[in-house]
Amino acid sequence: MLTLNQIESFKKNGYLVIENYIDQRQRNLLMQRAEELIDEFEPPSSHSVFTTNEQERTSDEYFLNSGDKIRFFFEEKAIDEDGKFTVPKQQSINKIGHAQHVLDPVYKEVIKELNFPGLGIQLGIKDPRQLQSMHIFKQPSIGGEVGLHQDSSFLYTTPMSCIGFWVALEDANKENGCLQAITGGHLIPLKKRFKLSSNGGTEFEILDDSPWPDNALDLLEVKAGTLIILHGQLPHYSSANTSDRSRQAFSLHLIDQNCHYAEDNWLQSLI
Ligand code: FE2
Repeated sequence: MLTLNQIESFKKNGYLVIENYIDQRQRNLLMQRAEELIDEFEPPSSHSVFTTNEQERTSDEYFLNSGDKIRFFFEEKAIDEDGKFTVPKQQSINKIGHAQHVLDPVYKEVIKELNFPGLGIQLGIKDPRQLQSMHIFKQPSIGGEVGLHQDSSFLYTTPMSCIGFWVALEDANKENGCLQAITGGHLIPLKKRFKLSSNGGTEFEILDDSPWPDNALDLLEVKAGTLIILHGQLPHYSSANTSDRSRQAFSLHLIDQNCHYAEDNWLQSLI
């Protein structure tokens, strides 16, 4: 149960940090399961590399049809110009997504224990739906930057209802690319929408082309086990990981089923 202070803090800042939300057993279960899944994964001949700075990469079938599957996306720097891996397979994955919360028994069980819908209801969602899950690796030395964005750009509903739950599976700090956010920035209008385009693929629709405010981003350095709840309109960012330590995290997004889910959201293959 969230306290009234926590709920107020979320409304004021656009995010809420809760330490020790996930215990070591649960963290180990998720990290070990990810390792097993990567061991079993046979890299396809064409690689999908996830980076929000180069969204055209996410127009491919492998990404767009991952909503009801468990798929593997590589760090951009894990593959060289000739298509060869620069690191071992276990260190090459940027993220696993987007339906392990439904399809994988280990993820499913731990996620059930974490009860994100219960938190979502306390934060105003009437009928929560767990829409997508991601295991994010931020690999040592090559973990990519994720540009400043608002999650509602990707999971758009009318009215907007997206809430992100981000769990630190390992310590996250400035060196290994912790989250950074504009505190209170959830009151900024949605800047753009990432959506399916009418001629195939995806595109950004600009909704508000004013620049981001000059407020410095606040570093959200947290210990392993911490949950950060992110308002769907909160601008957030994470830098590249130039350290020798990974920064694994698990994230899950909720929307309110009482709100209209856009037919042109990229994520349509839902289960
Ligand atoms: Fe995000």
